[in-house]
Amino acid sequence: MNLKKWITAAALCFALTPVRADEGMWLLPLLGQQKLGEMKALGLELDANDLYNPENASLKDAVVIFGGGCTGEVVSPDGLVFTNHHCGYDAIQTHSSVEHDYLTDGFWATTREQELPNEGLTVTFIEKIEDVTDLVKEALKEDNDPNSMNYLSPKFLNALAKEKVGEKFLQDNPGTEVEIQPFFGGNQYFMFTKKIYSDIRLVGAPPSSIGKFGADTDNWMWPRHTGDFSIFRIYADANGNPAEYSPDNVPLRPKRWLKLSIQGFDENDFAMIMGFPGRTNHFYTSWEVAERRDIDNAVRIHIRDLRQQVMLEEMLKDDKVRIQYASKYAGSQNGYKNAIGSNWAINKRDFETVKRNQQEALLAWGRKQCQPQYEEALLTLEQIVSDRKDLRHRKWMLDETLTRGIEFTSVPMNTGGLSTALEKQDNAAIQEEITKLRKSFHQFFNKDYAPEVDKKIAKVLLKEYRKLVPAISQPAYLLTIDQAFGGDVDAFVDHLFAKSIYGSVKNFEQFAAKPTAKALAEDPMIAFARSVKEEREHLNDALKSFDDGYNLAHRTYVEGLLRMHEGGQPQWPDANFTLRLTYGQIKGYSPRDCDYYGYQTTLEGVMEKEDSTNWEFVVPAKLKELYKRRDFGPYATKQGTMPVALCATTHTTGGNSGSPVLNARGELIGLNFDRNWEGVGGDIEYLPDYQRSIIVDIRYVLFLIDKYAEADYLLDELEIVK
Ligand code: ARG
Ligand code: GLU
Repeated sequence: MNLKKWITAAALCFALTPVRADEGMWLLPLLGQQKLGEMKALGLELDANDLYNPENASLKDAVVIFGGGCTGEVVSPDGLVFTNHHCGYDAIQTHSSVEHDYLTDGFWATTREQELPNEGLTVTFIEKIEDVTDLVKEALKEDNDPNSMNYLSPKFLNALAKEKVGEKFLQDNPGTEVEIQPFFGGNQYFMFTKKIYSDIRLVGAPPSSIGKFGADTDNWMWPRHTGDFSIFRIYADANGNPAEYSPDNVPLRPKRWLKLSIQGFDENDFAMIMGFPGRTNHFYTSWEVAERRDIDNAVRIHIRDLRQQVMLEEMLKDDKVRIQYASKYAGSQNGYKNAIGSNWAINKRDFETVKRNQQEALLAWGRKQCQPQYEEALLTLEQIVSDRKDLRHRKWMLDETLTRGIEFTSVPMNTGGLSTALEKQDNAAIQEEITKLRKSFHQFFNKDYAPEVDKKIAKVLLKEYRKLVPAISQPAYLLTIDQAFGGDVDAFVDHLFAKSIYGSVKNFEQFAAKPTAKALAEDPMIAFARSVKEEREHLNDALKSFDDGYNLAHRTYVEGLLRMHEGGQPQWPDANFTLRLTYGQIKGYSPRDCDYYGYQTTLEGVMEKEDSTNWEFVVPAKLKELYKRRDFGPYATKQGTMPVALCATTHTTGGNSGSPVLNARGELIGLNFDRNWEGVGGDIEYLPDYQRSIIVDIRYVLFLIDKYAEADYLLDELEIVK
């Protein structure tokens, strides 16, 4: 290349390279070659092998998937795990009742025997990560169907993974699973070997007034004052292997656990986070940005607002309902507020233009390289987004209102066995089927189900759905509302509850005592649920052709961007709930003109926010007591204040909750639990001046365990760096 050409290329490269310091969720095996230099320049004192070592235990072995959507970290040789309070929330709530209200009072096991098992809860270790791009591409070559979607199919990819390791390996290693995940839209593949533990016990949790302090008002906001942590323990069989719950199981002796540092830090200090970010879309085109704003986010915001109003009203009226719906409400609110923040960023920071510029850069580059496929891919993406508009709106409306919004859409529909038994008049079989159905019924009609609340929500959401979705595009059963109820939605819903075998426990038991095939065939709730399911399947089928075309074009578009940036800054693949590392600095920020937020909050701030008349900002008496006495033990800052939370420029998203935040030496300084309002758009575009991870300071966690809960027996198993 001559000099002039080189300069042009370099300038182009510089102008087009979108990745800036602190942006990115990096894959551990590539870290050494991609980012280690920058990390060291920011202060990292470790080597690539300390973070990730395919041969030996490394920091990554202390980082786990907690449950189905959070991260946790191992902090003791006895398998103790820290995660967020909001990640342990379901477990804490499940063990709670009006009599034992662990949500309100917190929970602390004082002996191992008191640790509470949790059905269905798992902790997953990532044993091994391998680049299998060549293997997958080879296998795909033999795939003759040109339109095959196998390149993204979990079924195809995971079968390939199993074939690679062999049946015997899986048999010899209980609890072990392998999976292959696509990256960059199917341009690269990694295989993950996982070890899944399923006896996970609740050890401790602060009261919600600490673990959820600030609740929904403060959620997605900085400055923050939440003690968002909870503590669990992994149990294994006598050989250290994963096993279902058994009183004979013993605490796991893990390969690696983290040290905890209470030495403190300063602004601009290096920080890194390992964890399992769920989903980002930074390769969106401008059309997808608009689609996300105008359909996905807009529907979510509108429908959840209606649903939450009903829920909150009922929760504030009745303590039992408050506990029953606490987790459902929090989950709904969280996504709702995220969607608002996402739209705010899309508009305020003009993400459409940002992405359009990126597209145009690729178009120009592609033309120069005589590579017309990128232009084709972009035209396809534009066309698909425009063509799928109505279907997508219908799908989002159906999901947010009928599928997710109304609980009785999930009543058990598997009544075929019972119908057959009834037709054959086979009494033994009838009894057996009734027993099975009763079990499914109680799974649906569980201790957290309040039919009166569901009924109210259904009335509100059905009305809205009928208003916003054209009648011919609705589940067929909704026609009954006009045909049999003169359009009266309330009467229709009341009828479902009055007449369905699932409308109440009484209804079910009446049916169980005298089951008939006719009652099943005519059951209105089952008919409603089936009809919603049919419409959902219909929509999924109709959208599938768009999805396939979209995926192919997206892969080409991303491939173009990767090639365009080759030799420049490394690119990071969108999050897909695989193990990643993000790094940056502890740093405050300016959210708007003439306003500045510091990097650390303290207990003073908790007291400033205290409002005993607002459930979100109640401060427990004992915490106030400790504050007054300034009884902070060794956990105070040099200035003598009690640190609560910090923020850093690290790039995180949903799934990173509970992730360990580590200092330059790889010691735990906090648990990630949220992101700031100005940074919610970071799932689409990271803005270094505005985006911050929100982290609970490990010193606050330890202070609460030690001084507030007086659970100092737990401290004995931790390695604390003083
Ligand atoms: N926003 C955080 C995350 O996305 C915390 C959610 C839990 N807290 C809540 N108030 N809903 O998950
Ligand atoms: N609270 C989120 C979670 O549960 C993390 C915040 C974010 O999205 O950045 O994973």
